[in-house]
Amino acid sequence: MEKKTVLSGIQPSGILTLGNYVGALRNWSLLQQDDRFCYYCVANLHAITVKQDAEALNRRTLEAAALLLACGIDPKRSALFIQSHVKEHTELAWVLNCGTYIGELNRMTQFKDKSQRHADNINAGLFTYPVLMAADILLYQASYIPVGKDQKQHVELARDIAIRFNKNYGDAFIVPEPIIPKLGGKIMSLTDPTKKMSKSDPNPNSYIAITDEPSVILKKFKRAVTDSEGIIAYDPERPGVTNLLSIYCTFTGKTPEEAVAEFAGQGYGKLKTAVADAVIAELEPIQNEYKRLLDEKTYLKSVLDDGAAQARSTARKTVDDVLRRVGLDATVM
Ligand code: TYM
Repeated sequence: MEKKTVLSGIQPSGILTLGNYVGALRNWSLLQQDDRFCYYCVANLHAITVKQDAEALNRRTLEAAALLLACGIDPKRSALFIQSHVKEHTELAWVLNCGTYIGELNRMTQFKDKSQRHADNINAGLFTYPVLMAADILLYQASYIPVGKDQKQHVELARDIAIRFNKNYGDAFIVPEPIIPKLGGKIMSLTDPTKKMSKSDPNPNSYIAITDEPSVILKKFKRAVTDSEGIIAYDPERPGVTNLLSIYCTFTGKTPEEAVAEFAGQGYGKLKTAVADAVIAELEPIQNEYKRLLDEKTYLKSVLDDGAAQARSTARKTVDDVLRRVGLDATVM
């Protein structure tokens, strides 16, 4: 049986949130099936597109790896690795940079957002970051890319880059497809439900961290901004309550219609407590496993070393093929 490849990554640029969990990590774990092999990376090279403290970056990178294991990434079915441990990512990114137009990168909405938020540090890496992400994907000949909605545009660019390269140099790359959850592809901030829940938000009440204590999770949901009408409806005009319903449905497997029927006429208080209970029930075992893994340094190191070795062996084949196709192998015959 030929296995299809799944690939995704997460930046260790802050505390991982419920948005990351629902939009991506939960699916990463579910996609580990017999007919697929998965590559999951902690994308630390991406993180330095904004200013980082070196020590904190290293610590958060290893914590993110432990959290991914706690969320169910199984080293027997997936290669879990740190992006900077596999040099092929930067090597392929250079070649792909030379096949990507400035006009394409100018259209990336995340670049526009981030350059507004980090106006004192609009560096070239921030601009070309989607090309590095394309390299992450194309190196492994990945077919499926589980991400939240905010990364869809970047995966589409990776597709365009792959299609163009294949046309110019012959079929070097599989053209990838994003996998985005129907419910929960974009979890919104709890303090401003018109904005995405983000790990870089300075207000901790705006997000649930995957590692938040159950009492904190309950408090944050109880304070979540809704509206003053108390109507339970799954409706884009009511982003606060719709966000809570999406989270509730993700964690209970119910449909929005079922959830609306369950809470109809009961105001927001009941829904908020029920969402908190459902989230806590799933996150608590993950939190316990995470705490345990943080002390298992030898195990963590062996998983990451094996993951990087496995990733490197696949990635090297792709890069060697690309270098040959482009005329960069320059072997003396
Ligand atoms: P990052 O680190 O910002 O987010 C990791 C994953 O979480 C998803 N996500 C969300 N989903 C739903 N609601 C939200 N509020 C929310 N916030 C974040 C993101 O869509 C993402 O799937 N560039 C990527 C990391 C990356 C990558 C890759 C992804 C690097 N290389 C290769 C896929 C393939 C990023 O910054 O994600």
